[in-house]
Amino acid sequence: MNLRTISTQPFTDQKPGTSGLRKSVPTFQQPHYLENFIQSIFDSLENCEGATLVLGGDGRYFNRPAIQTILKMAAANGFGRVLVGQEGILSTPAASCIIRENQAIGGIILSASHNPGGPEGDFGVKFNTSNGGPAPEKVTEAIYERSKTIDRYTILEAGDVNLDRAASFKLGTLSVEVIDPVDSYSTLMESLFDFEKIRNLLTSGKFRLCMDSMHAVTGPYARKILEGKLGAPEGTVMNGEPLEDFGGGHPDPNLVYAHDLVEILFSKDAPDFGAASDGDGDRNMVLGNNFFVNPSDSLAVLTANAAFVPGYAQGLSGVARSMPTSQAVDRVAKKLGIDCYETPTGWKFFGNLLDADKATLCGEESFGTGSNHVREKDGLWAILFWLNILAARDQSVEEIVRRHWQAYGRNFYSRHDYEAVDKQRATDLMKHLQAQFSQLEGQKVGTYEVEYADDFSYTDPVDGSVSENQGLRIGFTDGSRIIFRLSGTGTQGATLRLYIESYEPDASKHDVDPQVALAPLIDIAEQLAQIRQFTERDEPTVIT
Ligand code: G6P
Ligand code: ZN
Repeated sequence: MNLRTISTQPFTDQKPGTSGLRKSVPTFQQPHYLENFIQSIFDSLENCEGATLVLGGDGRYFNRPAIQTILKMAAANGFGRVLVGQEGILSTPAASCIIRENQAIGGIILSASHNPGGPEGDFGVKFNTSNGGPAPEKVTEAIYERSKTIDRYTILEAGDVNLDRAASFKLGTLSVEVIDPVDSYSTLMESLFDFEKIRNLLTSGKFRLCMDSMHAVTGPYARKILEGKLGAPEGTVMNGEPLEDFGGGHPDPNLVYAHDLVEILFSKDAPDFGAASDGDGDRNMVLGNNFFVNPSDSLAVLTANAAFVPGYAQGLSGVARSMPTSQAVDRVAKKLGIDCYETPTGWKFFGNLLDADKATLCGEESFGTGSNHVREKDGLWAILFWLNILAARDQSVEEIVRRHWQAYGRNFYSRHDYEAVDKQRATDLMKHLQAQFSQLEGQKVGTYEVEYADDFSYTDPVDGSVSENQGLRIGFTDGSRIIFRLSGTGTQGATLRLYIESYEPDASKHDVDPQVALAPLIDIAEQLAQIRQFTERDEPTVIT
């Protein structure tokens, strides 16, 4: 066995963001760049001797060479076993499930989520801990600290391994198990949802479903579960072949990037249900016939209807949403008499709440929904949850959402993204806005009165850790909110996100286009933050 210790020098830019280390492929292809970061992860683990590691990715460009490198480094660093997805494929939620099932020390997921892939696209490395969830800040901080001083890494000198078929073999002293990426995940889904009821719906001839995997990781999962186990006709899953560049697309399930699906669902002869998932399978978008379900509403509807789903019928311990996510779910929680937690953006903040059984369901406005079944958000899980509700209630998606609004009122909601803005200008905007906060409280702005204006800070109720500077919020006395944040996942310049929310109890006003309903608040946001001037943009890049 030929172990090599390679001298290296630190890179200064290996600080993990909202969701792991995300950089362009050419950045990751620099000599030692990937190796430094992986060794920093290994060095920050208490003891990897003999431990089990889970490894896989969303199939994007550089996935395979990165897996080969990581396997050889795991062998050199004394791991006992690596479970790696066949062809290098593991969706983020499936990786979470496999970590938990195998008592692994953690997992490395290779993905830049919804960012485009290919030789000039993005790549990413996420480290998940033994609970199956994204590493909390104290772990990512330790990895970053290590990356700043690293001066060597160790790697086994060996040929590449064959990832194309399920098999077990040795790499030095390391046991490598190439596993089916779908099996355990699919069994878990079967334990949560009423597959028989869903199968009856999908094979009834009365219900048409369309799933867009966007040439990303969920293709094999959706085919096996929806078409294989649940009897949906072949072809239900479109763009189902994972491609290294996602077919040139942007694998983000929203109204702009999932255009193939949107066109079908907003056509005259549209199917009853449409769904899409992102690069690594953790996000979801849900559509009805000519109807878009806002992700914040989706979380509220799932919570309100959890009793229809076997895995949740015994009741929910609580729910959680990220701060910028609309407060629709808060109203459901109140009615159910359960706690609703408000966390910073980033799935990692839900981990402690799920582990401590304070929350059962969680969700974010950024098309992420999930539960305590794993420790990641889960695209297909959300889609199956919806299908289970549709099968149980025998109503359309639109009917279910409209009835929900009637019962709880409607939280109008929208997010405006300004992508690839100059970093300095974006920071200046935030400073300019925050400088006004001390005078804003109690002030009238238009017809609204400011109740509070602050920089969101979160104290984790389980471990007491504090996360500051999580977004600037302006809350009004009627419950409306305007929130500004700089994204932690972009790779070019800065992405400014503006989140706007208002509440309308009157059902006769629920039909208004959210952009119209929110127009006065959008104007106030412009007035306070001078978005056009600071960003030098006339309008947002993406509106959801
Ligand atoms: C990823 C994270 C989410 C987060 C989203 C947007 O999907 O897993 O937790 O909500 O990115 O994050 P950003 O910092 O770009 O707003
Ligand atoms: Zn993702």
